[in-house]
Amino acid sequence: MRMNFRYLIWIAIGAMFLASCASFKPQAKDDVFFTVPLQSHTPEYELYLIGDGGGAPMGESTILFDHLKKEFSLASAKSSAVWLGDNIYPVGVPPKDSPEWPLAKHRLLAQLQTLDNYKGGIYFMPGNHDWYTYGLEGIKRQEYFIEEYLVNLANKETSDFFYPSQGCGDIKVVELDKERVLLIFDSQWFISKVDKYDFSHCEISDRQSFEKRLNEIVKSYSDKTVIFASHHPIYTYGQHGGKTSKGNHFFPLRQINPKLWIPFPIAGTAVGIGRTRVTEQDVKHVANKYYQQVVKEAMDQTPKAIYASGHEHCLQLINRDDRYYVVSGSASKKEAVGMGEGSLFAYAQHGYCKISFYSNQDPRIEFFALDEKKRAIVPVFSGSLDF
Ligand SMILES: [Fe+2]
Repeated sequence: MRMNFRYLIWIAIGAMFLASCASFKPQAKDDVFFTVPLQSHTPEYELYLIGDGGGAPMGESTILFDHLKKEFSLASAKSSAVWLGDNIYPVGVPPKDSPEWPLAKHRLLAQLQTLDNYKGGIYFMPGNHDWYTYGLEGIKRQEYFIEEYLVNLANKETSDFFYPSQGCGDIKVVELDKERVLLIFDSQWFISKVDKYDFSHCEISDRQSFEKRLNEIVKSYSDKTVIFASHHPIYTYGQHGGKTSKGNHFFPLRQINPKLWIPFPIAGTAVGIGRTRVTEQDVKHVANKYYQQVVKEAMDQTPKAIYASGHEHCLQLINRDDRYYVVSGSASKKEAVGMGEGSLFAYAQHGYCKISFYSNQDPRIEFFALDEKKRAIVPVFSGSLDF
């Protein structure tokens, strides 16, 4: 009897391990990575989705940022680059007399310089790391730095590039063209920061007002394709969704310090699953779930909804409840990812996402990622967002 119980324990641990295992390999539903060929005609609008770009090494650009600079210099004015937060690692923008300032400045400039010859719209938003340590002051410093840099680019007609402004909970509405609207808001404000500062001067200062306003906006654009852009994912199958790499299963302390090669195999699996309920940064935490519920209810107000996020350091495309969920959070970091309910594509590699919109045709989505052998950015997935 005792033997049977032991077997059951090991079977349960094995099942937990398999269910929560993630990898660094490219994965696609039915192993089909390229389903939609390039269109011969020009898209009406293109959207670049780039997340978690704030980790450039000191004094260096990256292969991805060099590639983006070329891509942006060729891109049409009928396009936008949306930077999905975590623009600074590990914490937000310090004061200029801080020893952390030179690296923070370099990390922001590495991203901003990709846009020097770009004719399209530019939108930055904060992620959780942008709020860390320096809080609201760090957010204001980041907004000022980004806007001061971009306003000096010759071809820009606006001086606003960072949303929401001043750390508020406000929702930025961008009518990209007659058929598409982009909504930008700060998920970290909703999940964690709204109760920690006085936002009474903002248009939206509490969660209830955010929920009401988001629903009003989406209803008013229900005949359009609505792209929701914020830092935290609604669905994800990486570490923030409870899946982790084999390495982290066996050496969980390496998530704290990469030098801690101390094996804790069973604890590692349990930590991978259990952490999602402990930290508000993970999808199973109650504060994070509240955010997901509010956004999903708003997404239900329109038939054509795309939700774009970063936060998880990988590339993912997920189709659930007739909605599309893009995770593009590997512009400077990568963490293992798995496939889950609705997954169409997942890859833990430095890269970004591009959505091309056409008239009378479903949008085409592409992911591009680093080919380490070629030291170049290459297409890794293409598909259609069927509405
Ligand atoms: Fe994040």
